[in-house]
Amino acid sequence: MFETLQMAPADAILGLTEAFKRDANPRKINLSVGVYQDASGKTPILAVVKEAEGRLLATETNKDYLGIDGIPEYGRHVGALMFGPAHDIITSRRAVTAQTPGGTGALRVAADFIKQKLGGRRIWCSKPTWPNHPSIFQAAGLEVDSYPYMDATSTALDFPQMLSALRKAQAGDAVCLHACCHNPSGIDLTGAQWRELGTVMRECRLLPLVDFAYQGFGDGLEEDAVGLRELAAACTEMLVCSSYSKNFGLYNERVGALTLVAESEQAAQVGLSHIKTCIRANYSNPPKHGAAIVATVLDDPALRGRWELELAAMRDRIAGMRRLFAEAMRARAVARDFSFITRQRGMFSFLGITPAQVETLRKDYAIYIVGSGRVNVAGMTEFNMDPLCDTLATVLR
Ligand code: LMR
Repeated sequence: MFETLQMAPADAILGLTEAFKRDANPRKINLSVGVYQDASGKTPILAVVKEAEGRLLATETNKDYLGIDGIPEYGRHVGALMFGPAHDIITSRRAVTAQTPGGTGALRVAADFIKQKLGGRRIWCSKPTWPNHPSIFQAAGLEVDSYPYMDATSTALDFPQMLSALRKAQAGDAVCLHACCHNPSGIDLTGAQWRELGTVMRECRLLPLVDFAYQGFGDGLEEDAVGLRELAAACTEMLVCSSYSKNFGLYNERVGALTLVAESEQAAQVGLSHIKTCIRANYSNPPKHGAAIVATVLDDPALRGRWELELAAMRDRIAGMRRLFAEAMRARAVARDFSFITRQRGMFSFLGITPAQVETLRKDYAIYIVGSGRVNVAGMTEFNMDPLCDTLATVLR
């Protein structure tokens, strides 16, 4: 049977990292996958993570299964981080959280829940979106449609077009939204736009599925949650998928969560019971280590304070690279104005270059960026900036 299979295409993002690792060019630069690199080009393990792991190793007494929805304290921290511990959603217990293997695991469980338990048919994704979004949703049996997101310059939001497309969605459809640091564009809604969007979502009876993978990578932990909180003021029901890959640097530990917000505590508990049946039929129950690290850090005020400083350092370095890149391109006097990069947030931005130029960068210069022209700004350093910008200027000319 296997002989009838043809080779599947390489993944649009992870496939590039595989190719990058195989590339023998000593000058190669990887700006494809969304992984943070420090000023020396290394992906560090946060000091608080190392310390929490030490504590876990010293105190762990068994390797028993976790519950289907994971570590309870972890779930409580996830909710508090998203909404704030005193938020009405938290105090009235309208939010329930299941620990998942990464944000991707959360998205798949959410999609299964929408399809199997809510009888949902369709989900709307921003155009563009993270390429894995449609794959996950289609694998769960949902139809995927898209709403416009960027204006004609591809550097700013087209909010009127976005709203008018969503007004045409059918009641009961789900809408995938990026809470902050939109992947791939780096373009986010303002608080006022989130409020307006929430009103439209409520009027049209659309279910928000919020992908919250970059909390703390934009403007700060609280600032990055503003959109979600504005949305929650209008929409009493929603699903939120969190990831701690980026803000804790726990990429290979696969730490994420699916949070369901309902109109009452009782409805939330019923929702959770169904989410648990989706999980049980998928991976049964989540792995412990990564979520235990996050819970250990967030449980200890001293560790938490140090985590916030380490997170701020990552955020500030990315913002610094955005400024440096825009300046370096201005100095090379190319026709395109790259100052928009400094107005965007998070790891990613679009360079606005053609697929042929992307290919030239990879084939001729070993500079790896995603085919859509998305760059991981967190992969830029003071050392690779000049060769990167020289090459880009050459290719643009
Ligand atoms: C990315 O967009 O590069 C990251 O979210 C990693 C991934 O899994 O694609």
